[in-house]
Amino acid sequence: MERQKDYYTKLARSSGYAARSVYKLKQMNERFRLIKPGSRILDLGAFPGSWSSYAMEVLKGRGRVVGVDLQELKSIGREKLNWQFIRGDIFSAELLERLIELGPFDLILSDTAPATSGNKAVDCERSLEIGQRALTIAESVLKKGGQLVIKIFQGGQEKQLLDQLRKKFVKARAFKPEASRKESKELFFLGFKRK
Ligand SMILES: C[S@@+](CC[C@H](N)C(=O)[O-])C[C@H]1O[C@@H](n2cnc3c(N)ncnc32)[C@H](O)[C@@H]1O
Repeated sequence: MERQKDYYTKLARSSGYAARSVYKLKQMNERFRLIKPGSRILDLGAFPGSWSSYAMEVLKGRGRVVGVDLQELKSIGREKLNWQFIRGDIFSAELLERLIELGPFDLILSDTAPATSGNKAVDCERSLEIGQRALTIAESVLKKGGQLVIKIFQGGQEKQLLDQLRKKFVKARAFKPEASRKESKELFFLGFKRK
């Protein structure tokens, strides 16, 4: 398929990253300096691990990354020290309890995406529920002054989530990294400095 041969897919392969989506995080990090030395980072929807891997690289051993996904992730291929994976559902109360024990975090990333159903309205609604859940998790485990990144699929209702971020963070905005395919409805909401 044409899309499997695009620039970022090839670059991810030749650079040893598990997914092309790593460049979305890289571009957001280069633009907004999200990952700082010593950051404690929560990576929601971490499988197959490219965001965790990139975050570990930027941290250079100073900090910690906790990845969460429904799918098992045994390794992120690079440095494993200071990296921990929890297999779980971000909607589960049990997972939230574990995150409270492991937190608080300086940065929460959610690239979590629903398994697509083929029905765009259903997928967008589910993506918004996931985004809302990421915000709820952030309210429990993100440090004051911390940053939040949430992926959503645009379906028309997402502005309400951005409005909530605007209330809970000093600044919030939407951003579409260049590495995000133009035809994709995905968009990232960023909250800077949790109040
Ligand atoms: C686009 S992928 C993440 C890619 C990852 N950021 C990377 O760069 O390797 C989205 C992930 O969200 C996970 N996911 C979807 N719903 C979830 C849920 N309720 N709880 C935990 N993970 C979930 C999926 O299993 C999938 O692995």
